[in-house]
Amino acid sequence: MRLTADANKFGLLAFVAAVLMTAAMSSAAGDVVAIRQADMKAMAAATKTISGMFKDPTTYKANEFKWAADTIRDRSGGVLSAHFASEADSRQSKAGPNILKERDRFDRIANDLRDYAVALDAAAQNNPGPMSASMRIKPGEAMGGGPLGTHVRNEQQLLAMPAEHAFHLMLQTCTTCHAKFRME
Ligand code: HEC
Repeated sequence: MRLTADANKFGLLAFVAAVLMTAAMSSAAGDVVAIRQADMKAMAAATKTISGMFKDPTTYKANEFKWAADTIRDRSGGVLSAHFASEADSRQSKAGPNILKERDRFDRIANDLRDYAVALDAAAQNNPGPMSASMRIKPGEAMGGGPLGTHVRNEQQLLAMPAEHAFHLMLQTCTTCHAKFRME
């Protein structure tokens, strides 16, 4: 008698545990989508902050510029990639089904984004006062599709270019990934 009651209790517990686990799993999927979308929005706000300062350099503040760069640095690279690790998560989102198949390409773009953010952080640290001329693209300097294209060959090259140039390449990185891996 006692044994059966315990067995029933166990059965019920197992059932409850199974229900809870299913709920937890589906909400974990929902969470990761919510987190990565929130991260994307935070990065979009950060790019607005930076682009505003390049448009009107009198508004430049090194600490705000750095904070915006760090917002992107901390949400790109491996952090970004890890949020797109499972296809099941992507069903109620705009993430393309090709991310898992073209994992290397996706991760490379996510890492490029981080490299640009690191370069912008360094520029802010090197320019604590007003925005220096060396941060700006000089008139007539090749832009965007210039000799570097969108992929940076090495860190030195990246740190040597004006921050504004790195910023434009960064924006192209956002666009490149969205064109390939985000669904309309
Ligand atoms: C490596 C690929 C990749 C990079 C780089 C990337 N994104 Fe995204 N982004 C995505 C994907 C995939 C989605 C769709 C996510 C989803 O719906 O779950 C997305 C969605 C978004 C969204 C919509 C978020 C929402 O609320 O639905 C915004 C805004 C955004 N990205 C901005 C940016 C900005 C700004 C950058 C560059 C600073 C950037 N992204 C870089 C892949 C990327």
